[in-house]
Formats: sequence, structure tokens, C-alpha cells
Amino acid sequence: MSASPIKKPEIMSRGARDLQLTDEGDLKHFLSIEGLSRDKLVDILDTADSFGGLGDQAARKVPLLRGKTVANLFFENSTRTRTTFELAAKRLSADVLNINVSVSSASKGETLLDTLRNLQAMQCDMFVVRHSASGAAHFIASHVEQHISVINAGDGQHSHPTQAMLDMFAIRRKKGDFNNLKIVIVGDIIHSRVARSQIHALNILGAGEIVAVGPKTLLPDTVRDLGVQIEHNFDKALKGADVIMGLRLQKERMRSALLSTEDEYYRSYGLNENRLRIAKPDAIVMHPGPTNRGVEIAASVADGPQSIILEQVTGGIAVRMAIMSIAMGNVEKSLAQSRA
Ligand code: NCD
Repeated sequence: MSASPIKKPEIMSRGARDLQLTDEGDLKHFLSIEGLSRDKLVDILDTADSFGGLGDQAARKVPLLRGKTVANLFFENSTRTRTTFELAAKRLSADVLNINVSVSSASKGETLLDTLRNLQAMQCDMFVVRHSASGAAHFIASHVEQHISVINAGDGQHSHPTQAMLDMFAIRRKKGDFNNLKIVIVGDIIHSRVARSQIHALNILGAGEIVAVGPKTLLPDTVRDLGVQIEHNFDKALKGADVIMGLRLQKERMRSALLSTEDEYYRSYGLNENRLRIAKPDAIVMHPGPTNRGVEIAASVADGPQSIILEQVTGGIAVRMAIMSIAMGNVEKSLAQSRA
């Protein structure tokens, strides 16, 4: 695995954009948010809305992926993302393979491409990929056969586009239009693939004001280039906020000591009840999970009336169903066109 020639995010951005679209400009793979049009993001949200009530109904399945096989390829740990992808695929009537790579042949030295070729030989139609290397999903998408769609379930520090879309879905459901919203993203921005994807999605959808907050070590000035305001004082940023999105401290990605202590971090950047009162009274609190209570968020806020953390998880199923069905539909359309 480690020998796989995985490219760095900065050198793949242009190719990534073309790679995820068919010749007709339709979404075929879902690798990153950047480069996608507003219409494409809105189409995902609208399609997810159409699946929205499905979880509550007795008959939970729709036949959109019947006869298709989805392989969940997780080279990095996950609970929420992997299980909601599995549920989404099952509710679309697909067969699902869960490949836990730490106990698969990859740990016996098989290369990533060998693993992929074997899954292709088993006639898989979709790969849902999580990997610790930035660019892994793009690398895979550039090596698979034409009939396969690749969905990025998180690659290194680069991108987590389905998480960003489920966050947009949750915001739209609660707040409607993005135009007048002040959105505050707080925490370990520099290491967060979630924050990067959220910022791209919010900009494309026309969010009124996006403010990134954190200590200088986790929020360098360069983050401004993504199209956000930067603030190091959390209380100041919270004034007038409609949406507060927390992030986990990604300690596994910190190569040196970037924080003094967790207690000190909590004092400056923890979302507690007093701080939440600075935001608008109807502000919503979000977090992609896993949450560290008492480090980035108080338990009473995570479980409180303004928190929509669990609604994010539920909506994630509908959003993943939307992305998978749109991508697979476009793969089939483009194959039919190339055969004609
Ligand atoms: C995030 C991830 O894996 O990037 N979690 C998730 O997908 N629900 C954020 C995190 O790990 O902190």
C-alpha cells in the first residue's frame, strides 16, 4: 500500500475536476467538491430530499441500484461514514461488500491496484474509498474500468465531499437559503478534510459569510485563500452566527505539538453553553463526529436543543443514496452512449 504512487492534492486539482465528470459533463465519480457547479450540488440536495422520508417508511428500499455491487473499501477507520454508506447502498437495493483492509490481502503486501483488479474481476460496479493518503480516491478513479464509479469517503487531509454535502443538506433543511447565513467553522481547520470540503460547498452554494476560527497553529493565514474570513477569537466570531460547525482535533495528523493542553484549548475554543448564547438564539450546532466532549464541545451543547448532530447522521443516508444513484445513473448513460 505505502508504495502506491498516490499524488499530492495540489498537483491533482485540475485533473480531478475532469476525472469526476463524463464527456457530457455529468457527475460520474464523486471525488471532491471543488470544480463542481452550483446546479450539481443543488441536484444532489434535491435528490436527497426526495429520499428524505424513506427511513421512516415501512418499505425502505428503492430499486435504483438493483443488480449492482458496491464495495466499501476502507483503508482507514470509520464508523458513521462506512455504516451510512452501507445502509444507503442497501436502501438502493445494491449488494454490498465491506472490505476491511487492515485484515485483507493489502496487509499481506498486495498493492492497491491488485486489490482493485480483483474487485473488478468480481464485477463490482462502485468503489466507496476511504484512505489516509490525500489523492487516493483520484488515483483509484484514474485506474478503474469505465463501468465503475468511485466515491471518495475521505482522503487524507484533502477532501470529504459526501460529509460536506450531508452538512449542506442539514443546513438547508433547518435554515432554507444559504445567502443570509453566517457560518462559523471552529477548530482544527488545517488538518480537516471536512472543513476544506465544507468551505468549497458553502462558497459554491453562496453562503453569506463564512468564518473559520481556531488557534494560529491550526488556522494559518493561508486558509483565507479558500474563501473564508479568519478569526482567532471564538467569542467575537460567534456574534450573529446562524450555524456553528465544530471539528475534532485531528491528533493523528499533528506531526508536532500544536497545542499547549486540551484544557486550554477548551477554554479558548470549546463550545459551551455560555458561548452558544453569543450566537443567534436560533443558531444550530453541528459536528461531523466523532465528538470529543469537554475538548471541542460541552456535553450539554452536543446533546442540547440546538444540536443537530444526530440529524446530520440520519440525513447522511439520504445524501449518500443521492450521490450513489446520480453517479451510477450517469455511468450507465455514458456507457450506453459510447455503445451507440
Ligand atoms: C470525519 C473524518 O473522518 O474525516 N468524520 C466523519 O467522517 N464522520 C472527521 C473526523 O474524523 O474528525
